[in-house]
Amino acid sequence: MDKQTTPLSGRSVDEITQGRRLRRMRKADWSRRLVQENRLTVDDLIWPIFIIDGENRREAIPAMPGVFRLSVDIAVKEAERAAKLGIPALATFPNVDMALRDQSGSEILNPANLINRATQAIKAAVPEIGVITDVALDPFTSHGHDGILRECIIVNDETVAQVAAAAVLQAAAGSDIIAPSDMMDGRIGAIREALDANGFQHVAIMSYATKFASAFYGPYREAIGTQGLLKGDKKTYYIDHANSDEAVREAEQDVLEGADMLMVKPGLPYLDIIRRLKDEFSLPTFAYQVSGEYAMIRAAAANGWLDGEKAMLESLIAFKRAGCDGILTYFAPEVAEMLKG
Ligand code: PBG
Repeated sequence: MDKQTTPLSGRSVDEITQGRRLRRMRKADWSRRLVQENRLTVDDLIWPIFIIDGENRREAIPAMPGVFRLSVDIAVKEAERAAKLGIPALATFPNVDMALRDQSGSEILNPANLINRATQAIKAAVPEIGVITDVALDPFTSHGHDGILRECIIVNDETVAQVAAAAVLQAAAGSDIIAPSDMMDGRIGAIREALDANGFQHVAIMSYATKFASAFYGPYREAIGTQGLLKGDKKTYYIDHANSDEAVREAEQDVLEGADMLMVKPGLPYLDIIRRLKDEFSLPTFAYQVSGEYAMIRAAAANGWLDGEKAMLESLIAFKRAGCDGILTYFAPEVAEMLKG
């Protein structure tokens, strides 16, 4: 048997560990399954999809291999596929025609804009799937910022008013969950008031409570076409990625204003934040495994530098371990297929 004494002290490992052997439960597949603490299921998945105008379009996004911009008719087909796979909800993001983008993102107030048309079509065809709509100005502004830009400043209160009005239109189109991603102060309370005043008490708010200024959003900006537009950075409204207490204060504020669910974004570099928010607020807590995280795993796998499937599953279970109730991930349909098989 394995009974070696250590060369220096002459003590045996049993003497050192007092007989404790942590490897005991890892010895076989059955015992590892028995003691597994966290599990990933299809119920944990939210699938972010990109919408574009036109018909029968499925446009590749070079920095996100396997992800496409979908016209509304194709998005409906994908929603049907997602529902069949058991994915609980989709999150939609529009790539808006450049001609419709302006300084204040006014197209967000068009009740028949791309995002609202997609919601209507998806909910009409696949009512059983949840639709989460991101409400932020960046897909609609000519400068790619999440707010109204005046004299080089993203103005807070005016942006909040516009985002709250847009949230009502999204709810009217059938959105189940409004997800404000702009990080303006007071947006959660303003959206809650606006929804309630318009008879949408049943529509929930998932707050991008802690959204960090991050380099990991790069491929997303290509996907929605803000990459070439964005001047400067978003550091005056997203959180400094060096901060953790500030993230708790942000989340606390959103909880006080009426957030039903919290989200941390990006995901993997911020697992510590997820754990802090879950422990502090006990609200349903979600992570957004963002475009750059997706691209990293895909790129490394394509080069044969790591096993893509294993890395994908490991990254997702990490979110569960950190305290997440669910994950927004571009891997959703692929993972759902794998979990089925
Ligand atoms: C902005 C928004 C971003 C993402 C979704 N909505 C970040 C940004 O462009 O600054 C990123 C999602 C991803 O990277 O997958 N409202």
